[in-house]
Amino acid sequence: MPLNRSSTIAVVDRHSQATARPHSAGRPLHWETLALDAGLVIDPTTKAIAPNISMSVNNLLAPGDGAFSADGVEDLTALPYLYARWTNPTVRQLEQRMAALEGADDALATATGLAAIAATFLTCLKAGDHVIISDVCYAGASELARRILPDYGIEVTAVNMSRLDAVAAAFRPNTRLVHCESPCNPILRLTDLSAVAVLAHQRGALVSVDSTLATPVATRPLALGVDLVIHSLTKFINGHGDALGGIVCGRKELIEKIRSRAGVYLGASLSAQNAWLIMRGIDTLFPRIRAVSESAIQVARFLCDHPSVKSVTYPGLETHPQHALARRQMNVFGGILTFQTDDPQKMAVQLAGRLRLVHYAFSLGHQRSIVVLLDTNEMMKATYELQGAQLGDYRAFAGDGVFRISVGLESVDDIIDDLDQALR
Ligand SMILES: Cc1ncc(COP(=O)(O)O)c(C=O)c1O
Repeated sequence: MPLNRSSTIAVVDRHSQATARPHSAGRPLHWETLALDAGLVIDPTTKAIAPNISMSVNNLLAPGDGAFSADGVEDLTALPYLYARWTNPTVRQLEQRMAALEGADDALATATGLAAIAATFLTCLKAGDHVIISDVCYAGASELARRILPDYGIEVTAVNMSRLDAVAAAFRPNTRLVHCESPCNPILRLTDLSAVAVLAHQRGALVSVDSTLATPVATRPLALGVDLVIHSLTKFINGHGDALGGIVCGRKELIEKIRSRAGVYLGASLSAQNAWLIMRGIDTLFPRIRAVSESAIQVARFLCDHPSVKSVTYPGLETHPQHALARRQMNVFGGILTFQTDDPQKMAVQLAGRLRLVHYAFSLGHQRSIVVLLDTNEMMKATYELQGAQLGDYRAFAGDGVFRISVGLESVDDIIDDLDQALR
């Protein structure tokens, strides 16, 4: 029985006593196994198999060890643990597990998903640079890019990423980053990630994708040419609705830069306790995402036939306008779908009052089913401010508003019965 171990891929924690444990079959481990094994370090003293939670803010060091400033330190993870805002052993295990699942060299975990997005923007962009962002993406990312970045001298263009001609036309000589989301929250429009990566790389820009709705079970964007993959760990990756977290995964030199700049100076470091909870969530990521994907297609088909429902959007439905791309880019179609009804505001009140099992609430990717209305006029006013063709493209997916369902792990029959009685 080996006391110290790590997976066969390059995720050995250099601070631990762990030695690489080759897989018995002498081949790389499967993704499902990496979800349990990557980055896992057996405590050399207690031999505990579950990860330790290292709550200490500071660690003993020998005088002369380490660095006084993170600024200019190329690889913070090569230093001994000094101070938990820089690196923490429990957080490091989570980073290594997520890096393994995304096929990345490394990852930086943050206190929230939005902090991972902010860290990416604030590292890859500086005054005078230009970023192209999906005109529909997570509201916080959109608001950060379009309202805050210009205050720092960064130019921002929002485009419909599913229109490759619009993406190509949006590049400027100073474009440094293209930020997209696939499927995008809340309308579930997809981005052809390899096509966008080719466009960006031909013009010297990096591509980041928020893959929160896909998860690495559905899509592995780095293999498609994307440079940085971001997740709100708060959602499917943790999967239990009890911890905020975020991560950005990518090539070693990019992650080192993000860690030593925004990771340290934004100060939004993930807590060890949340890292532990999120790792426990990742243990069951594959069976959870497969289960919610199987339930989601059944819920989608049920809603398609429901008299109160006007339309349903789900990447796994043949009627999704980008179903062919979804089949190419997604191994499973995920747990999020949307539907439209007449008079959505009235229906929202009806659903909130009548649902017994499905929760009427924000957020997504938890173990319990959630539904919420995202009203188009409100979204336009509060966040996206789209006009003309972009607004038309949004309405083609969302009409006057979408009810976004995040399908949970309950019996799909019970979910469907609850929706049925609440919708009638
Ligand atoms: C796609 C997506 N990205 C990022 C975020 C932000 O995540 P967090 O709330 O962890 O900051 C969310 C939150 O809803 C999201 O849906």
